[in-house]
Amino acid sequence: MPNPSNQAAWINGKGQPLVVAAAPILQLGAHEILVRNRAIAVNPFDGVVQTLGSMVTPWVAYPAILGSDVAGEVVAVGASVTCFKPGDRVLGLALGIDRLANRAAEGAFQQYVILRQDAATALPDRISFEQAAVLPLAVATAACGLFLDDQLALQTPSIGQPVPTGKTVLIWGGSTSVGSCAIQLAAAAGYEVVTTASPKNFEYVKGLGASQVFDYNDAQVVPAMVKYLGAHEMVGALAIGAGSGTLCIDILSQCKGRRIVAMASAPLPIDDAPLTRQFVWKLTHLPRLAASFLGLAIRARFRAVATRSIWGTALMRGTLGKTIFNDFLGPALASGRIVPAPQPLVAGHSLEAIPHAMALLRRGVSARKVVVLL
Ligand SMILES: NC(=O)c1ccc[n+]([C@@H]2O[C@H](COP(=O)([O-])OP(=O)(O)OC[C@H]3O[C@@H](n4cnc5c(N)ncnc54)[C@H](OP(=O)(O)O)[C@@H]3O)[C@@H](O)[C@H]2O)c1
Repeated sequence: MPNPSNQAAWINGKGQPLVVAAAPILQLGAHEILVRNRAIAVNPFDGVVQTLGSMVTPWVAYPAILGSDVAGEVVAVGASVTCFKPGDRVLGLALGIDRLANRAAEGAFQQYVILRQDAATALPDRISFEQAAVLPLAVATAACGLFLDDQLALQTPSIGQPVPTGKTVLIWGGSTSVGSCAIQLAAAAGYEVVTTASPKNFEYVKGLGASQVFDYNDAQVVPAMVKYLGAHEMVGALAIGAGSGTLCIDILSQCKGRRIVAMASAPLPIDDAPLTRQFVWKLTHLPRLAASFLGLAIRARFRAVATRSIWGTALMRGTLGKTIFNDFLGPALASGRIVPAPQPLVAGHSLEAIPHAMALLRRGVSARKVVVLL
């Protein structure tokens, strides 16, 4: 195995800033690959772990390395790896913060990362690293919500022409990164997709495979969607964006078919917590957050709609990770059935640029994914 020097953006404890410093490269396990990262993407969850890690990821062993999304070149493979060889271009889902791994060597924010082979996908030459880095966590989160047995349990996508199921899935938040992947995965699995976005992104989400799109900022969006969906056989809703779960409950309770909402987001935003002096934020936000979860649970109960919360890396605990990353995504990217979306927004060219990238994301993006090239 090659022994290059490695640098990482470390987080040394809960609520700490990121610090770039040397990082070791560990021996590979049998089913692992070592990847030289060329592009990483930042996600809202990275900021949430940094600020509220003691609440959302209390198991994390510090010093840690955040980040889930990578694209780069394979430099070494474990003894039992069959899908990849040194020199291959890949994208991958980094699991450093997940309870499954919980080790810095598997965090994305470094030059060399260890990936599990079933969380990596071969990249066609025409897809750049910065395009590819937008996909891993968004694909994973969308796949969890759509396909896991304890979520919407839809049929998984096939590589060939989709066979229409005649059924419809509601994907709230189609122009988010997660929504962009969810629309494509659900359409590839044969479902009609009805979604929401701002009007400037209507054509974007239709281009990804949505058949109908509604403006989520419109005060009449719920009755308008109920009216449109009246004749449709629903298989459930994937709710993306703060507060979307409540609206999806209201819609599904007035439609025919399955009444289940898979929620990617909390009822209130939690990605705006400050890094320091959190006392006032926690004092004002946590009681409201608890009340909003309780309100959502009561609403769901009274409207006879089931709700599920998504953990975006849960697909790696069973076989769905391999199904999506190894068996489906590579051929689907090669054939163009899945396209990298949304467009990357390059925030810098070094590990030192990651805090700036996280700040950019926190200010808000529209149909863009913030990426750093390495
Ligand atoms: N549970 C998990 O494991 C998991 C994993 C990944 C992400 N998430 C969550 O999923 C959500 C999306 O993450 P992301 O990275 O995909 O976000 P993102 O791409 O950064 O989201 C930006 C988009 O959000 C849309 N948006 C803003 N407010 C909205 C609302 N109230 N309803 C629907 N869409 C809204 C905007 O659409 P327009 O520009 O069209 O207005 C914008 O395009 C976040 O809440 C994130 O925390 C959860």
